[in-house]
Amino acid sequence: MIIAVDGPAASGKGTIARALAAHFGLPCLDTGLLYRAVGVQVLRDGGDPENEADALAACAFDDALLADPELKTEIAGAAASRVSAIPAVRAALVARQRAFAAQPGGAVLDGRDIGTVIAPDADAKLFVKATPHVRARRRHDELVRLGHDDISFDRVLADIRARDLRDSTRAAAPLRPADDAALLDTSYMDIDAAVDRAISLVEDRLGIG
Ligand code: DC
Repeated sequence: MIIAVDGPAASGKGTIARALAAHFGLPCLDTGLLYRAVGVQVLRDGGDPENEADALAACAFDDALLADPELKTEIAGAAASRVSAIPAVRAALVARQRAFAAQPGGAVLDGRDIGTVIAPDADAKLFVKATPHVRARRRHDELVRLGHDDISFDRVLADIRARDLRDSTRAAAPLRPADDAALLDTSYMDIDAAVDRAISLVEDRLGIG
């Protein structure tokens, strides 16, 4: 059983994917981490995240990097968004994601193109969204909680809009819902309500509701 969870930055898709994985007893892969690792590796190598040769070389990052807290920063997210627009980078990361999805017991994967490209035959697909303002508010609250209270809400909102634009207008696997994805708008839900709704949408899709 494969569950695909896609959506824009700070939509709640990561939390929802982890909750679905726990509920259905499946392993979970946050595919954004792979792109973040490539982005951080390019920066550490002194390269340019928009340069194909630099980004491709960084795809050989050491797996230990996937656990590095630096991957969670806005700088890493912006670099990830840039390297992820390069088709050769996406191609270099496909096999790893498909292998995770093909585990015998099944898997949950979250990202931007799981339902459209990585696992088009997934048993259940969710597209999680929320307004840019709501997502910026959540991201800003999180940054403040982490002690980064020097970043303004307007700056976070501008970053979210820039990332949405880049992720949804790129030619290679742009962010968009698969035709057969269930849409889940979390703008006016707290996370518990969003998770409950996600579980029931997936159960509907699996015919086990
Ligand atoms: O989900 P995230 O914010 O960690 O993702 C970081 C960037 O990686 C995002 O801006 C676009 C890219 N990404 C992608 O292109 N495809 C995926 N499946 C996951 C992430």
